[in-house]
Amino acid sequence: MSLPFTATRAILRKREGLEHPDGEIESLVSGLLDGSVADYQMTAWMMAVFFKGMTVGETTRLTRAMLGSGSELPSWGGGSRIVDKHSTGGVGDKISLIVAPIVAACGLRVPMISGRSLGHTGGTLDKLESIPGYTVHLEPARFMRIVDTVGCSIAGASQEIVPADRRMYALRDVAGIVESVPLIVSSILSKKAAAKLDGLVFDVKVGSGGFSSDRERARLLGQRLVETGTLLGMRCEALLTWMEEPLGAAAGNGLEAAESIRFLRGESVAGDLIEVTYEVAAAMLRVSGAEAEDDARLRVRDAVQSGRALERFEAMVRAQGGDTGVIDDPDVLSTAPIRLEVHSPEPGFVQGVRARAVGEIVVDLGGGRLKADDSVDPGVGVWFHARSGDPVEKGSILAEIHARDLSEARTAASRLLAAYEFGPAAPVRVPLVLETIVPDPSATAADESMRPSR
Ligand code: URA
Repeated sequence: MSLPFTATRAILRKREGLEHPDGEIESLVSGLLDGSVADYQMTAWMMAVFFKGMTVGETTRLTRAMLGSGSELPSWGGGSRIVDKHSTGGVGDKISLIVAPIVAACGLRVPMISGRSLGHTGGTLDKLESIPGYTVHLEPARFMRIVDTVGCSIAGASQEIVPADRRMYALRDVAGIVESVPLIVSSILSKKAAAKLDGLVFDVKVGSGGFSSDRERARLLGQRLVETGTLLGMRCEALLTWMEEPLGAAAGNGLEAAESIRFLRGESVAGDLIEVTYEVAAAMLRVSGAEAEDDARLRVRDAVQSGRALERFEAMVRAQGGDTGVIDDPDVLSTAPIRLEVHSPEPGFVQGVRARAVGEIVVDLGGGRLKADDSVDPGVGVWFHARSGDPVEKGSILAEIHARDLSEARTAASRLLAAYEFGPAAPVRVPLVLETIVPDPSATAADESMRPSR
């Protein structure tokens, strides 16, 4: 006969690396919310999870318990499939702004509940809020109406969705427990599952600007997201994508929104951004169950070239109160008063620009946040003219800093120059999508531990 639940017993069990019996994880989560489990007990248990890991079955139970702590969106009416994507976060990663309208233009519905920037990585909501009037605060009924009529909506999570995650994430943040694979998986998936998705694509960023430079660790996260998401009833795929250099030409909120609009207008934009965006969009079509590989790529391209994706973006901005004038004139989003060019100190080829350094420069210019309640400056950032593979002369323009004042711009310029690497020949080009992870039909729910790999 099993003993009654106590938080102490649950902590000791995980401390010893044992699997939780049915009901124990659920009692921890409900206890956190009703006050019978103290913050310090939840923190101790999560630290034990950090060191001992969890099985896929335990992670799925944790995700369901977190999901059950709040309200889900009501069921979607009949019609096209419901799909979304999640990025683990990178520098210059504006893919969400571009793929949501592309996939909507391909006939699917995309209810994208997104987050804000934290640390060196940017946040989709901050980028969209650089569009005057655009609101990310939508009641669930309005959010769903926009998805049903426009095909996509990008908004923040309401307070009612997964309150357990907000409490747990705040404890993880202050106690140094953010980087635990099972806790990341349950945090991401509980919020995504609340939107009742049919399909979900994960973009797991590998490299100094992304989730981890350790490809094995990124692969483990991708596999666990796919396995757990599948057990929760969604069709899932994960792409491991390279994040050693910022994605596209812009880093900074308004500049990235402008680059996204240029992409949807079919204007010439950076090849790396096109490559990863099209792969993520095609994967979203595949997880909807509707498309074969080649058809998916063709439909994605056609959605942009026909202008239909831009129309969906414009309709979304209008529906969320934003100024659609930015579609015709994206330059109005470059609002910082100071522009400072950064010049190449030598001739040769750019070998790379360190993404993490660029992310930190944008934060220090005021474009990111170190604490969850910091405000961000929509206008500041970096616009690149030369990135890896580009030939440069001594004195060529490498990039332009957008800043609030000249002394901040000068500091950013010298740090940016230090983030560049030059060499005598063009570097070997690497494909940016490193791997695609699909569900393993032979995987079982309980046989694998989710220990961190260090
Ligand atoms: N994003 C989330 O939503 N949760 C995590 O734990 C990490 C990234």
